[in-house]
Order: sequence, then C-alpha cells, then structure tokens
Amino acid sequence: PVSSGASLSDQVHQTPADMFYKPGEAAVINCSHTIDSYDRILWYKHSNGNQMQFLGYMNIKFGTPEPGVKVKINGSANKNDLCTLTVEDLSVSSSAVYFCAARYHSASY
Ligand SMILES: *[C@@H]1O[C@H](CO)[C@@H](O)[C@H](O)[C@H]1NC(C)=O
Ligand SMILES: *[C@@H]1O[C@H](CO)[C@@H](O)[C@H](O)[C@H]1NC(C)=O
Repeated sequence: PVSSGASLSDQVHQTPADMFYKPGEAAVINCSHTIDSYDRILWYKHSNGNQMQFLGYMNIKFGTPEPGVKVKINGSANKNDLCTLTVEDLSVSSSAVYFCAARYHSASY
C-alpha cells in the first residue's frame, strides 16, 4: 500500500497480502483508507521487468478502469469505505504486485 504522502502510508490498507488463483478465475483485492477528505483511490500493477501500470481509479463512488484494462473498480473511495479491484479472466500475465493509493481529488490531477 502506498499513499501520496509517506507519513500517511500507514493509513492505507490493502488485503489480502497474497493470493493464488487459476487461469480464467477472477481475483478481488480490497483497499481502504482512514485519511480525512481523501476521496480517490488509484490502482496500479507492477509485474517483473515492467513499469508500474496504472489500472484505473475510483472517484468517490465512481470506478473508472483505464481503457482496455480488464478490471472492475467498485465500492467507495471515501474514508473508512471499501474499494475493490476485480481482476477478471486471470492469466499468467496477471501475476504481479497490485498497489492501491489514496489521494485527495484535487483539480491538479
Ligand atoms: C474484503 O472486504 C470484505 C468486506 O469487508 C470482507 O468480507 C473480505 O473478507 C475482505 N477480503 C479480504 C481478503 O480481506
Ligand atoms: C463495478 O464497477 C464497474 C466499473 O469499474 C461497473 O461497470 C460495474 O457496474 C460495477 N458493478 C457494480 C455491482 O456496481
């Protein structure tokens, strides 16, 4: 888990720590935060030898996956709410470290 301010990183929580699925299945990852006024959650994927890939974000209650990325983003990005990333149709290339981050939804995105 990461956040836009290092001192806030212990206020962003992600579960599970690791998971194993078969190809074709779907995996769900939870993320929540406890930071006042933050209302956006961003999701990233990091696989070996690749750059960090931005998967999409949730703005308050609206999930916006990046075009062409087979994920769903559901729930809520508000404080103490649960935001989920669903990675659909798993394949070998889905194997990666997934990160969520929380931030304030400012105009300077
Ligand atoms: C994700 O959150 C839901 C709802 O709080 C909970 O039931 C589920 O156990 C969580 N999953 C993990 C892997 O923590
Ligand atoms: C989950 O989020 C996706 C967009 O990320 C949306 O298309 C879908 O309708 C949502 N599902 C529910 C049950 O809200």
